[in-house]
Amino acid sequence: MKARGYLLFTIVVCLSSYDVCWAGSSWFHFGDWGPSHWVREICHWLGWCSQVCYDDLGCFENTLECHKPFFPPMPPDEILTTFNMISNDDRQFSPPIMRSEVERVFDFGFNDSIGVVMIFHGWGESHLKKWVSDLSNALLNRTNTNIIVVDWYEGSDELNYLKAVQNTRVVGREVALFIKSLSEQSSISLSRFHLIGHSLGAHVAGYTGAYLSGIGRITDYISFICTALDAAGPAFEGTGPECRLDESDALFVDAIHTDAPPNGEGVGISQRIGHCDFYPNGGHDQPSCHFWQLTCNHARSYEYFIESLVFPGCSFTSILCPNETSFSEGTCPSCDENEGGCPSMGYYASENQANGKFYLRTHRKRPFCVKRHQSLKKT
Ligand SMILES: *[C@@H]1O[C@H](CO)[C@@H](O)[C@H](O)[C@H]1NC(C)=O
Ligand SMILES: *[C@@H]1O[C@H](CO)[C@@H](O)[C@H](O)[C@H]1NC(C)=O
Ligand SMILES: *[C@@H]1O[C@H](CO)[C@@H](O)[C@H](O)[C@H]1NC(C)=O
Repeated sequence: MKARGYLLFTIVVCLSSYDVCWAGSSWFHFGDWGPSHWVREICHWLGWCSQVCYDDLGCFENTLECHKPFFPPMPPDEILTTFNMISNDDRQFSPPIMRSEVERVFDFGFNDSIGVVMIFHGWGESHLKKWVSDLSNALLNRTNTNIIVVDWYEGSDELNYLKAVQNTRVVGREVALFIKSLSEQSSISLSRFHLIGHSLGAHVAGYTGAYLSGIGRITDYISFICTALDAAGPAFEGTGPECRLDESDALFVDAIHTDAPPNGEGVGISQRIGHCDFYPNGGHDQPSCHFWQLTCNHARSYEYFIESLVFPGCSFTSILCPNETSFSEGTCPSCDENEGGCPSMGYYASENQANGKFYLRTHRKRPFCVKRHQSLKKT
């Protein structure tokens, strides 16, 4: 009975406000399968609600084609975004920290005289993925920085990929508010925040940067959004910057494309999305990845990034080039002709502040990086 009361109430609110469906968590909470959930979805599906509003996160509209797909973003108290510090001493995760308890980072060794790296996982993942700890260890070994891993498992672990896509906007804003508060409490400027995202995580980072301008750097290991969405109807390839990570989201945005779909395969995005876009081995079909190893190309992006920190004698020097054909034919302009020179893909890419599409080859096996001054000829 009580539940039905809520249901009626919700529909009335949906109708009376025309296109605003108030689904704020403070009004009702039935979990993922409760009536509020269904009302919200049905309301969206019927096209009655063009936005949902979640308290201090504000409203999320679905007026753009890329934000339409049926499901509204989940409320923050169902996504349960947490922030997980990794301590330099024991390399263990802190207990999960909620957005409202920013000051707790100081209990876990947060140092306010150095920068901050935040790591974002992708679809169906959590902060416990192995690549997250590999990356964190590599960063702690080589750099002096605070590391905070964003976990949005409950929002990313949706069988329906499009639902997870919708949730990226909510998580992005939550992280933005967390960073704003952390920056105020620690006086670390926004430009000293570096967000690193894999797959959908890169778009979460993008939405963070779009909501809070001035973030120092966003690194994207291969974007997973858009091209994989063909089944959703409208083509997402070539979507506008409001739909994805783009260069306006941070002072410097670098992307590593390892699984672009030149022939309709691959789950990555091929178009440029940053200041500096790297296309190792053409940006698709990484060497020694076989077609039956489904995530091999996709995973190579973070393996390259981690290697850029692990092997000091090795690098991923790249060259500015208009396209892959020109790269294979060896007709790219030389490093001196380009203002940004030949940046090294990976952690140190920001040193050149280069702008454009950059090509390089890698070894077939670990280490994939190339000894300095050793160039790899086309095989
Ligand atoms: C914080 O980092 C600075 C700069 O590396 C270092 O000098 C200082 O000792 C660190 N503080 C703590 C409490 O670890
Ligand atoms: C980090 O350093 C430790 C200790 O030297 C080493 O065991 C570990 O393999 C390193 N990890 C990475 C990812 O570089
Ligand atoms: C690659 O770039 C070169 C130089 O700008 C251009 O002449 C050529 O048509 C391009 N090739 C493709 C396949 O786009």
